[in-house]
Amino acid sequence: MKAGGSLRVLHAAAEWFPLVKTGGLADVVAALPVAQHDIGLNARLLLPGYPALREAIESARVIVQCGPAFGAGRVTLLRGRLPGYPIPVYLIDAPWFFARRGNPYLGPSGSEWPDNALRFALLGWVAAQLAEGGLDPNWSPQILHAHDWHAALTPVYLAAHGAHAGTERRSRSVLTVHNLAYQGRFPVEGFAGLQLPDWMSGPAGIEFHGDLRFLKGGLMFADRITTVSPTYAREILTPAEGQQLEPVLQHRAQALSGIVNGIDTGVWNPAADPAIATPYDAQHLEGKSACKQALQVECGLEANPQAPLLTVVSRLTPQKGLDLLLGALGNWLALGGQVALLGTGDAGLEQAWRAAAEAHPGRVAVRIGYDEAFAHRLIAGADLIGVPSRFEPCGLTQLYGLRYGTLPLVHRVGGLADTVVDADESALREDRATGFAFDGASSEALAGALHRAHTLWHQPPAWQQIIRRAMAQDTSWQAPASRYADLYRTLLASPEASHT
Ligand code: ADP
Ligand code: GLC
Repeated sequence: MKAGGSLRVLHAAAEWFPLVKTGGLADVVAALPVAQHDIGLNARLLLPGYPALREAIESARVIVQCGPAFGAGRVTLLRGRLPGYPIPVYLIDAPWFFARRGNPYLGPSGSEWPDNALRFALLGWVAAQLAEGGLDPNWSPQILHAHDWHAALTPVYLAAHGAHAGTERRSRSVLTVHNLAYQGRFPVEGFAGLQLPDWMSGPAGIEFHGDLRFLKGGLMFADRITTVSPTYAREILTPAEGQQLEPVLQHRAQALSGIVNGIDTGVWNPAADPAIATPYDAQHLEGKSACKQALQVECGLEANPQAPLLTVVSRLTPQKGLDLLLGALGNWLALGGQVALLGTGDAGLEQAWRAAAEAHPGRVAVRIGYDEAFAHRLIAGADLIGVPSRFEPCGLTQLYGLRYGTLPLVHRVGGLADTVVDADESALREDRATGFAFDGASSEALAGALHRAHTLWHQPPAWQQIIRRAMAQDTSWQAPASRYADLYRTLLASPEASHT
């Protein structure tokens, strides 16, 4: 059933699953516009024209060519379709900036591209021009929805345009913060190249503590700010979690809210997942046991159905708290547990996990790397999925865990707190429990949760009940897509706000 009229929204972002992905941002950027399309919104997407997207785009039409902008030489705006994707996509074809393969932010040496400020300023500038500058004569968005620091200058260019033109803006902006830790920080000397009015170089603009911070600019000028869970929206107002930006967020607190992400329930569906050994659903959990056995064999773990198997699929960074899990590993193994981890990131963490696997053959399996299909097999075959993050704006892998009946074991912060119901006594009694949560980022607290999980593991009826409750959760994008649509409508109905 389609509802919501034909509200026009443009998402501007730097990643798109499956072709350009460094984390959950890519999944959200790909899935949210489709869910919005499904409820009747007229959604489109604006992305940098990286080679992977430039080569994949079909029926591409040139919408406009702009003269040299941001030192990028020729800039062509293309509109076309990405394979199997129902939403029209605009690509910024600026080879000087974007014809670089691999990670969208890092060069071959692993350090940031030196011109990242200009590359992603161009993304925000084109988004604003599509809304207010008439770049596409056949379409312009009413809502500009920018994601993370990469697109955070979108509301800044919109504000600059409005101030320059002296007219009321037709469009409204939403900035979604997927992770406040990444702020797009650059030396102030770079301001001159950004084509923004001089006053924006100061504290009332995009400067913060002596640097340019793109995200701070977006937070100042966006009409609405969202984060990817209500708990994270509250946490970032505090010095502990505000990553220095809490004063700016407190200033904008009236405009800030949290909406929990969904997951793509087509890609993540245990009943029809081509990557896993045997499909299953909540009524046919024998398939899950077969997946576990196949996984143990694939990973070189002891093929023991009685051993509870904990998986982790994660970036290996301090955020994710996987050092805490290393600290609790001894306890878990002493209880007879197994661990299978897939991840890549910090060299020190990679090395520490490799060493753990070497020290415990048959009990701990570690694969360093990035592998989508293996991630599916891990999540289908394991009994538990560990997400002990120090902070977590939303987190997607615990949602995959819910859908696959692989019980999440999480640190009770951010989106993890909002999506997992701890199996404490009352939750068990009331049949609300969906996993295990612990408080305080310590190995001891994590070990305590592992211990509780282990106790329930040896009570199969209780464990099955939690699995069924977990699998019955609505993890789809339907509800979040409607929440965003409500936010857009409220915003369009309100008079133009003054931000600063
Ligand atoms: P973040 O965006 O902070 O990394 P999320 O949980 O939101 O955390 O999203 C991470 C996404 O990346 C999930 O889709 C997860 O499955 C995927 N992922 C992370 N590491 C790997 C890996 N090594 N191999 C395959 N997929 C991975
Ligand atoms: C970020 C966050 C993660 C969130 C993802 C998608 O990368 O770290 O918690 O799930 O964005 O919103």
